[in-house]
Amino acid sequence: MSVERTFSIIKPDATRRNLTGSINQKLEAAGLRIVGQKRLQLTEAQAKAFYAVHAERPFYGELVSFMISGPVVVQVLEGDNAVAKNRAIMGATNPANAESGTIRKEFAESIEANSVHGSDSLENAKNEIAFFFSESEIVG
Ligand code: CDP
Ligand code: MG
Repeated sequence: MSVERTFSIIKPDATRRNLTGSINQKLEAAGLRIVGQKRLQLTEAQAKAFYAVHAERPFYGELVSFMISGPVVVQVLEGDNAVAKNRAIMGATNPANAESGTIRKEFAESIEANSVHGSDSLENAKNEIAFFFSESEIVG
């Protein structure tokens, strides 16, 4: 097992419903350490840039609007196999397909308002962490 860092976002549907602590509890119970965390209001430019990989998808415009509809909590998570571990505890993109016990099964409202983002590879994790955090804001 190797210690990795991954990037997470608690999305506006979850901050709106006061679920930050409940989601953090699941992350920590899964063995992930929250080594960086801040609450932000994303700008439209930030949301567009962060999700640029989806720019051609039909849901892109709605996704950007949703991501700026309220505050988010951006996080750096550290632990053994953190990238895959976080994806597992998040559950499937569509909460209807998410396994029981996962964050999305328990909390997500819809395929769009699905409560959390998590990096899908170590390389993307590095880029996404650098998008939001300076080194001095991450304390392992
Ligand atoms: O977040 P995840 O990596 O599981 O899914 P994605 O395919 O990378 O999509 C990014 C985000 O776009 C999702 O988490 C949803 O918020 C949104 N999405 C959507 O609104 N409608 C879809 N059909 C697929 C994704
Ligand atoms: Mg993704």
